[in-house]
Amino acid sequence: MTTTSPFPIVAIDGGAASGKSSSARSLAERFNLLHVDTGSFYRHLTSELLRQGVPSGDLPALRAALGRLEFSTRLEGRSARMLIGGRPAGEEIRSQNVNAHVSHYAAVPEVRTALLAYQRGQAEVARQHGFRGLVMEGRDIGSVIFPDASCRFFLHADPAERARRREQEGQTDSIAERDRLDSSRPTAPLTCPAGAIDIDSTCLNLGQVVDLMAGIIAEKLG
Ligand code: DC
Repeated sequence: MTTTSPFPIVAIDGGAASGKSSSARSLAERFNLLHVDTGSFYRHLTSELLRQGVPSGDLPALRAALGRLEFSTRLEGRSARMLIGGRPAGEEIRSQNVNAHVSHYAAVPEVRTALLAYQRGQAEVARQHGFRGLVMEGRDIGSVIFPDASCRFFLHADPAERARRREQEGQTDSIAERDRLDSSRPTAPLTCPAGAIDIDSTCLNLGQVVDLMAGIIAEKLG
Protein backbone atom coordinates (compact mmCIF):
# COMPACT_ATOMS: atom_id res chain seq x y z
CA MET A 1 0.00 0.00 0.00
CA THR A 2 2.79 2.44 0.81
CA THR A 3 6.49 2.20 0.19
CA THR A 4 7.20 1.95 3.94
CA SER A 5 4.57 -0.72 4.61
CA PRO A 6 4.58 -3.50 2.01
CA PHE A 7 1.91 -5.54 3.83
CA PRO A 8 -1.38 -3.62 4.28
CA ILE A 9 -1.97 -2.78 7.92
CA VAL A 10 -4.98 -0.92 9.29
CA ALA A 11 -4.54 0.45 12.82
CA ILE A 12 -7.59 1.37 14.90
CA ASP A 13 -7.14 2.99 18.28
CA GLY A 14 -9.66 4.46 20.67
CA GLY A 15 -11.09 4.36 24.17
CA ALA A 16 -13.25 1.67 25.71
CA ALA A 17 -16.48 0.98 23.80
CA SER A 18 -15.58 3.45 21.05
CA GLY A 19 -16.65 0.95 18.37
CA LYS A 20 -13.21 -0.44 17.52
CA SER A 21 -14.07 -4.14 17.64
CA SER A 22 -17.28 -3.98 15.63
CA SER A 23 -15.74 -1.84 12.92
CA ALA A 24 -12.51 -3.89 12.82
CA ARG A 25 -14.49 -7.15 12.43
CA SER A 26 -16.53 -5.65 9.63
CA LEU A 27 -13.48 -4.28 7.81
CA ALA A 28 -11.76 -7.66 8.15
CA GLU A 29 -14.71 -9.23 6.29
CA ARG A 30 -14.82 -6.58 3.61
CA PHE A 31 -11.13 -6.56 2.76
CA ASN A 32 -10.05 -10.09 3.74
CA LEU A 33 -7.90 -8.89 6.64
CA LEU A 34 -6.85 -10.75 9.76
CA HIS A 35 -8.58 -9.14 12.77
CA VAL A 36 -6.42 -8.68 15.85
CA ASP A 37 -7.98 -7.33 19.04
CA THR A 38 -5.00 -6.42 21.23
CA GLY A 39 -7.33 -5.49 24.11
CA SER A 40 -8.13 -9.20 24.35
CA PHE A 41 -4.36 -9.88 24.64
CA TYR A 42 -4.03 -7.50 27.59
CA ARG A 43 -7.16 -9.01 29.12
CA HIS A 44 -5.93 -12.58 28.71
CA LEU A 45 -2.55 -11.67 30.20
CA THR A 46 -4.24 -9.87 33.11
CA SER A 47 -6.45 -12.86 33.78
CA GLU A 48 -3.42 -15.18 33.75
CA LEU A 49 -1.40 -12.96 36.11
CA LEU A 50 -4.36 -12.67 38.48
CA ARG A 51 -4.74 -16.46 38.37
CA GLN A 52 -1.07 -16.81 39.32
CA GLY A 53 -1.51 -14.27 42.11
CA VAL A 54 1.03 -11.81 40.67
CA PRO A 55 0.03 -8.23 41.52
CA SER A 56 0.67 -5.44 38.98
CA GLY A 57 2.67 -3.54 41.63
CA ASP A 58 5.16 -6.34 42.39
CA LEU A 59 7.72 -5.75 39.65
CA PRO A 60 10.18 -8.58 40.51
CA ALA A 61 7.36 -11.15 40.63
CA LEU A 62 5.82 -9.68 37.46
CA ARG A 63 9.14 -9.87 35.58
CA ALA A 64 9.63 -13.48 36.65
CA ALA A 65 6.09 -14.45 35.66
CA LEU A 66 6.30 -12.69 32.29
CA GLY A 67 9.57 -14.47 31.54
CA ARG A 68 7.85 -17.83 31.96
CA LEU A 69 4.89 -17.14 29.67
CA GLU A 70 4.72 -18.35 26.09
CA PHE A 71 2.43 -16.72 23.56
CA SER A 72 1.12 -18.33 20.41
CA THR A 73 -1.77 -17.73 18.03
CA ARG A 74 -4.81 -19.71 17.00
CA LEU A 75 -6.96 -18.49 14.13
CA GLU A 76 -10.73 -18.53 14.53
CA GLY A 77 -12.22 -17.48 11.24
CA ARG A 78 -10.71 -14.08 10.55
CA SER A 79 -9.65 -13.46 14.15
CA ALA A 80 -6.32 -14.09 15.84
CA ARG A 81 -6.69 -15.55 19.35
CA MET A 82 -3.74 -15.37 21.69
CA LEU A 83 -2.86 -18.54 23.58
CA ILE A 84 -0.84 -18.37 26.77
CA GLY A 85 1.02 -21.58 27.44
CA GLY A 86 -1.24 -23.14 24.79
CA ARG A 87 -4.44 -22.02 26.56
CA PRO A 88 -7.02 -19.75 24.91
CA ALA A 89 -8.75 -16.97 26.83
CA GLY A 90 -12.00 -17.83 28.59
CA GLU A 91 -15.10 -15.72 29.12
CA GLU A 92 -13.58 -14.34 32.34
CA ILE A 93 -11.51 -11.88 30.30
CA ARG A 94 -14.71 -9.77 29.99
CA SER A 95 -15.47 -10.03 33.71
CA GLN A 96 -15.75 -7.13 36.12
CA ASN A 97 -12.61 -8.34 37.86
CA VAL A 98 -10.51 -8.16 34.67
CA ASN A 99 -12.15 -4.84 33.70
CA ALA A 100 -11.05 -3.44 37.04
CA HIS A 101 -7.42 -4.67 36.82
CA VAL A 102 -6.44 -4.64 33.14
CA SER A 103 -5.43 -0.96 32.92
CA HIS A 104 -3.13 -1.34 35.94
CA TYR A 105 -1.22 -4.20 34.31
CA ALA A 106 -1.27 -2.44 30.92
CA ALA A 107 0.41 0.60 32.47
CA VAL A 108 3.50 -1.42 33.44
CA PRO A 109 6.21 -1.01 30.76
CA GLU A 110 7.43 -4.62 31.25
CA VAL A 111 3.94 -5.90 30.47
CA ARG A 112 3.79 -3.82 27.28
CA THR A 113 7.27 -4.95 26.24
CA ALA A 114 6.28 -8.58 26.80
CA LEU A 115 3.51 -8.20 24.20
CA LEU A 116 5.27 -5.94 21.70
CA ALA A 117 7.02 -8.45 19.43
CA TYR A 118 4.08 -10.85 19.66
CA GLN A 119 1.69 -8.14 18.43
CA ARG A 120 3.98 -7.14 15.55
CA GLY A 121 4.34 -10.81 14.66
CA GLN A 122 0.63 -10.99 13.81
CA ALA A 123 1.43 -9.38 10.45
CA GLU A 124 3.48 -12.46 9.58
CA VAL A 125 0.66 -14.73 10.79
CA ALA A 126 -1.72 -12.86 8.47
CA ARG A 127 0.67 -13.10 5.55
CA GLN A 128 1.31 -16.81 6.07
CA HIS A 129 -2.42 -17.56 6.16
CA GLY A 130 -3.14 -15.75 2.90
CA PHE A 131 -4.89 -12.67 4.28
CA ARG A 132 -4.68 -9.52 2.22
CA GLY A 133 -3.59 -7.57 5.29
CA LEU A 134 -4.17 -7.00 8.96
CA VAL A 135 -6.56 -4.86 10.96
CA MET A 136 -5.35 -4.38 14.51
CA GLU A 137 -7.23 -2.53 17.24
CA GLY A 138 -6.05 -1.23 20.60
CA ARG A 139 -4.68 1.89 22.26
CA ASP A 140 -1.18 2.26 20.83
CA ILE A 141 -1.34 0.52 17.45
CA GLY A 142 -0.92 3.64 15.32
CA SER A 143 1.55 5.22 17.75
CA VAL A 144 3.81 2.35 18.87
CA ILE A 145 3.06 -1.04 17.32
CA PHE A 146 2.65 -0.03 13.67
CA PRO A 147 3.37 3.72 13.39
CA ASP A 148 3.88 3.30 9.64
CA ALA A 149 0.60 1.42 9.08
CA SER A 150 -1.11 2.05 5.78
CA CYS A 151 -4.17 3.55 7.50
CA ARG A 152 -4.37 4.76 11.07
CA PHE A 153 -7.73 5.56 12.61
CA PHE A 154 -8.62 6.96 16.01
CA LEU A 155 -12.21 6.41 17.13
CA HIS A 156 -13.91 8.31 19.86
CA ALA A 157 -17.44 8.82 21.10
CA ASP A 158 -19.25 10.68 23.82
CA PRO A 159 -18.84 8.87 27.22
CA ALA A 160 -22.62 8.60 27.74
CA GLU A 161 -23.04 6.97 24.33
CA ARG A 162 -20.19 4.54 25.07
CA ALA A 163 -21.71 3.59 28.43
CA ARG A 164 -25.01 2.96 26.62
CA ARG A 165 -23.27 0.64 24.13
CA ARG A 166 -21.69 -1.41 26.93
CA GLU A 167 -25.04 -1.66 28.70
CA GLN A 168 -26.64 -2.93 25.50
CA GLU A 169 -23.95 -5.62 25.39
CA GLY A 170 -24.99 -6.57 28.94
CA GLN A 171 -21.58 -5.63 30.35
CA THR A 172 -20.59 -3.73 33.47
CA ASP A 173 -17.47 -1.81 32.58
CA SER A 174 -15.52 0.99 34.24
CA ILE A 175 -15.14 2.86 30.94
CA ALA A 176 -14.33 6.31 32.35
CA GLU A 177 -11.82 4.97 34.87
CA ARG A 178 -10.09 2.74 32.31
CA ASP A 179 -9.86 5.65 29.86
CA ARG A 180 -8.45 7.87 32.57
CA LEU A 181 -5.76 5.31 33.45
CA ASP A 182 -5.04 4.39 29.81
CA SER A 183 -4.69 8.06 28.78
CA SER A 184 -2.54 9.18 31.69
CA ARG A 185 0.07 6.39 31.82
CA PRO A 186 3.58 7.47 30.78
CA THR A 187 4.19 4.49 28.47
CA ALA A 188 2.16 4.26 25.24
CA PRO A 189 -0.82 6.27 26.47
CA LEU A 190 -4.15 6.28 24.68
CA THR A 191 -3.88 9.25 22.34
CA CYS A 192 -4.68 10.13 18.76
CA PRO A 193 -1.25 9.97 17.07
CA ALA A 194 -0.25 12.77 14.69
CA GLY A 195 -1.43 11.96 11.18
CA ALA A 196 -4.14 9.47 12.26
CA ILE A 197 -7.69 9.95 11.01
CA ASP A 198 -9.88 11.01 13.92
CA ILE A 199 -13.51 9.81 13.74
CA ASP A 200 -16.21 10.85 16.20
CA SER A 201 -18.75 8.02 16.15
CA THR A 202 -21.17 9.51 18.72
CA CYS A 203 -23.83 10.29 16.12
CA LEU A 204 -22.92 7.60 13.59
CA ASN A 205 -24.17 4.05 13.45
CA LEU A 206 -21.78 1.15 12.86
CA GLY A 207 -22.54 1.00 9.13
CA GLN A 208 -21.70 4.67 8.71
CA VAL A 209 -18.42 4.36 10.61
CA VAL A 210 -17.40 1.30 8.60
CA ASP A 211 -18.34 2.95 5.27
CA LEU A 212 -16.24 5.96 6.16
CA MET A 213 -13.22 3.85 7.04
CA ALA A 214 -13.71 1.47 4.12
CA GLY A 215 -13.69 4.36 1.65
CA ILE A 216 -10.32 5.52 2.95
CA ILE A 217 -8.88 1.98 3.01
CA ALA A 218 -10.13 1.24 -0.53
CA GLU A 219 -8.40 4.37 -1.77
CA LYS A 220 -5.12 3.22 -0.21
CA LEU A 221 -5.47 -0.33 -1.47
CA GLY A 222 -5.91 1.05 -4.96
O1 DC B 1 -9.91 -2.82 24.05
P1 DC B 1 -10.26 -3.25 25.50
O2 DC B 1 -11.16 -2.27 26.18
O3 DC B 1 -10.73 -4.66 25.56
O4 DC B 1 -8.83 -3.20 26.23
C1 DC B 1 -8.67 -3.59 27.58
C2 DC B 1 -7.53 -2.82 28.21
O5 DC B 1 -6.29 -3.23 27.65
C3 DC B 1 -7.56 -1.31 28.06
O6 DC B 1 -8.28 -0.69 29.11
C4 DC B 1 -6.13 -0.92 28.06
C5 DC B 1 -5.39 -2.14 27.59
N1 DC B 1 -4.88 -2.02 26.20
C6 DC B 1 -3.70 -1.34 26.04
O7 DC B 1 -3.16 -0.77 26.99
N2 DC B 1 -3.13 -1.30 24.81
C7 DC B 1 -3.70 -1.88 23.75
N3 DC B 1 -3.13 -1.83 22.55
C8 DC B 1 -4.94 -2.54 23.92
C9 DC B 1 -5.51 -2.59 25.16
